[in-house]
Amino acid sequence: MSSFADDLHAALAGPDHSISPKYFYDAKGSGLFEQICDLPEYYPTRTELGLLKRHAAELAGRMGPQAQLIEYGAGALVKVRLLLEHLPDSHSFVPVDISGPHLLGACEALQRDFPTLRITPVVADFTRAHRLPTAPAHGRRIGFFPGSSIGNFTPDEALRFLRLLREELNGGALVIGADLIKEPAVLHAAYNDAAGITARFNLNLLHHAQRELGLEFNAQGFDHYAFYEPRQHRIEMHLLPRGVQELQLQGRRYQLSPGQSLHTENSYKYSVEGFQALAREAGFKPDGCWTDDQHWFSLHWLTA
Ligand code: AVJ
Repeated sequence: MSSFADDLHAALAGPDHSISPKYFYDAKGSGLFEQICDLPEYYPTRTELGLLKRHAAELAGRMGPQAQLIEYGAGALVKVRLLLEHLPDSHSFVPVDISGPHLLGACEALQRDFPTLRITPVVADFTRAHRLPTAPAHGRRIGFFPGSSIGNFTPDEALRFLRLLREELNGGALVIGADLIKEPAVLHAAYNDAAGITARFNLNLLHHAQRELGLEFNAQGFDHYAFYEPRQHRIEMHLLPRGVQELQLQGRRYQLSPGQSLHTENSYKYSVEGFQALAREAGFKPDGCWTDDQHWFSLHWLTA
């Protein structure tokens, strides 16, 4: 099993110079992501929250009584509240997140607002095999994967991950958000905000490595670079070296030139039809899709 250190060594050594975006999310990075969600340019969070508000009652009704709600990459637990408010008799809530301290803090706040809810946090990388509490005896497992986090996977990886969820949620359903293909200017602005928060979020990957692994690098030596790649329908985020940059990790030295940008994230955009086709391929039955008036974001009900 690879670690942050292994993955960063591999990214620095090349030839791809790419590393998983999951390493953005230490406590600092999770906080920066929450700031991104409030940015005027970053439409996904706001749009999805609107969809959840508008359709929460219907979604909760579909989940049925005694549902065990499992949120993958739970983060700040803002969105799930909208569902929980309509699920008075839920069996339990199982948030899964890689950032332990952040998750546990969010669970405490949630427990204050929902004192009778049984919360079982699971600190894990949800893309890997993880242990869940046993399925409820009388309700169904309902997965919740909002925010278009699925966009971080390549279509191949997304298919594999959805297959895993299909098995885990067998007999239940998955409620999942997917960002939609749209005018590149709108996408570009969302990942190049005027306040520079996305840039700090991107750079936090190296700061995270500095704090956790003792990485040495010049913090002024990298630019945030994000663009929409229309052929693959994806935003790419890179850290672009300003001139040749020297980095040192655990006694090993690396050099990165501007032609060797660190590729830190992909964020794939889908059409409704394309996403439903992917879900079908993974064994789900697409059984409901809600979008906003601008057709910027989609929320799907996939029966497992
Ligand atoms: C959490 C993966 C959905 O791709 O929009 C936001 C992460 N990166 N701004 C996204 C992100 C830069 C976000 N996801």
